[in-house]
Amino acid sequence: MKILGIETSCDETAAAVVEYGRGVISNVVASQIDLHKNFGGVVPEIAARSHLEVINQVVDEAVDKAGGWPVVDAIAVTSQPGLIGALLIGTLAARTYALTLGKPLISVHHIKGHIYANFLEQNHEIAFPILALVISGGHTQIIMLKTHDDFEILGSTRDDAVGEVFDKVAKILGLPYPGGPEISKIADQYHGELIDLPIAKMKGNQLDFSFSGLKTAVLRQAQKMAGVDINFPSFELAKKLIRNEKAQLAKSFEETVVKTLMRNMQQAGQDTVPKTIMLAGGVAANQRIRQGLVETFPNQKVLIAEPKFCGDNAAMIASAAFYQIQGQTDPYADPLDFSVLPRSAIS
Ligand code: KG4
Ligand code: ZN
Repeated sequence: MKILGIETSCDETAAAVVEYGRGVISNVVASQIDLHKNFGGVVPEIAARSHLEVINQVVDEAVDKAGGWPVVDAIAVTSQPGLIGALLIGTLAARTYALTLGKPLISVHHIKGHIYANFLEQNHEIAFPILALVISGGHTQIIMLKTHDDFEILGSTRDDAVGEVFDKVAKILGLPYPGGPEISKIADQYHGELIDLPIAKMKGNQLDFSFSGLKTAVLRQAQKMAGVDINFPSFELAKKLIRNEKAQLAKSFEETVVKTLMRNMQQAGQDTVPKTIMLAGGVAANQRIRQGLVETFPNQKVLIAEPKFCGDNAAMIASAAFYQIQGQTDPYADPLDFSVLPRSAIS
């Protein structure tokens, strides 16, 4: 079975054709990063307009590479969560293709897609239960999958998502958007002493995260290094820091993020005794986090998606859709009565 996936929840317009949830036949991603760079983050109106401009072209390319529309058995699209204007473009395209070409339509949750990036191009059995750490620009969650249709959120961030903190810290250090890869780049060049930064202690659910204190601690350290007080404009701060100071802050920050994520994953692993560990989401491209997870679970099967499937893409949506429809009596969505949600928990 070949499924065409369509993904437009944030700033990538993507389409892909995937066979039986694993074999990637085509995978097209048109990134808008350059359009948003000047604004230091994603501008929702620009994102929606840009999706509209390229969506048909991106879908055509993915379908053509796979052998044309006749080979497509179903269309899967991200319906939630995400930027509403962006989601509306992808879902409208998917609904129109489904109706006019007579193909079944499958509605997919974006976070589920990120998890299923780990099934792509794998040719071995993947054992349940699965404990997944999903880290992206909008989400930070520890999720337990008992089966393909039984998901439980064990922990989430109570404030910023990990990717969001990477991006905000990068801004403090004067690094371009998206900040995650930039932070890693300069952190890798630093081999000196690290600054002690806080790991939030959580009241209530110990598997939850909080990153806003860490972000403020980095800001305070940067102000201290620059010799300015807390009223100094933060967008001017980077100019007062030398390269080595920025690298020290970046490395200290990155290592604290790794420790925070691994502390909770270790606890979740003890609580749930999973057979497979997975890492997913755009931030999963981070080498230190990838390494940290393998070291935290030395005796378990740890799956980490290839970097090209970590960021937003449509192959992961097609894969999630394939597993979602198995064993369901009524798996398809109605193109004329289709809900699109900016916020929604995986279920
Ligand atoms: O999953 P994604 O492409 O989009 C969302 O669904 O949010 O994730 C984007 C996020 C950005 O915040 C970006 O800075 C972060 O992933 N990111 C990284 C790295 N590569 C991308 N963060 C840390 N280290 C990286 N190597
Ligand atoms: Zn994402």
